[in-house]
Amino acid sequence: MPAQRLWFDVSLFDDARQQRSVRWGAPLVVLERAGSTNDLALDAERDGAPEGATFVVREQTHGRGRRGNAWWAPPGDNLTCSVLLRPELDAKETAALPLVVGLAVREVVARRLESQGAVLSAPPVLVKWPNDVLVGSRKIAGVLVESRLRLQAVSAAIVGIGLNVRTRVFPEELAGQATSLARELRPRRTSRSGTSQPTEEPPPFEELLAELLASLERRYERFRSGGFSSFLAELEICDALRGRPVRVDGLLGTAAGIGADGALRLVDDTGIEHRVHSGHVELR
Ligand code: BTN
Repeated sequence: MPAQRLWFDVSLFDDARQQRSVRWGAPLVVLERAGSTNDLALDAERDGAPEGATFVVREQTHGRGRRGNAWWAPPGDNLTCSVLLRPELDAKETAALPLVVGLAVREVVARRLESQGAVLSAPPVLVKWPNDVLVGSRKIAGVLVESRLRLQAVSAAIVGIGLNVRTRVFPEELAGQATSLARELRPRRTSRSGTSQPTEEPPPFEELLAELLASLERRYERFRSGGFSSFLAELEICDALRGRPVRVDGLLGTAAGIGADGALRLVDDTGIEHRVHSGHVELR
């Protein structure tokens, strides 16, 4: 009888990391279940874990999203992980870190859809300020960065990422708003004979995590040396909100891109530009 595949095989992950020359992902903590991977990383930070320490679980019992929301992910379906960073930059400089993480996640999703999906009319993969990755208008990943301050500097930033990989059916409250790699890789075209193309399998978690760390590590180096402004051109191309009418916590206007400080630029109906540093954005 063939051996059953582990949900996360550390030696496959190490191979995938080495192929991409990734330093992060060591030490690696893999657990069947935990409250939240961000809490695992926060505890490890207190115990002196190094930058790049990574935490991945099959199931979170208290996964959290932004603004006190719960993060929903069925056990074993999705990539649920956190990475410990020690930026030692001041709090203002790290404010835009969630967007840099969003760009890294976006790249991994876009590459996978391009290489595996091969569909002509695939929706674009976008970053929605401040922390979402979308395929078309549906969210495929969320980012939660939680920081610890020492004096004015961010001594630790926990980068939590939830990437929907295998979930095909979402609960009613998320249906229509959420998607996953499995859903996006489903056949969209039918052949001339009318039969649908075979379904693509979503990539294994070990490869996805190595790809995410590679993309994140590269961008983080650039973020530390060149600051957030070096990402503005990339963000402009994949900004989900730019030019769209939005409401941010009662403020109505049109999204006009992202500023060099990571704030959302919002032009209200009288033409005045506001800089929004935090809030919940709804498309109008
Ligand atoms: C959001 O979209 O509101 C952010 C969601 C972030 C979810 C991830 S899953 C891994 C990490 N651990 C958590 O408890 N949350 C983040």
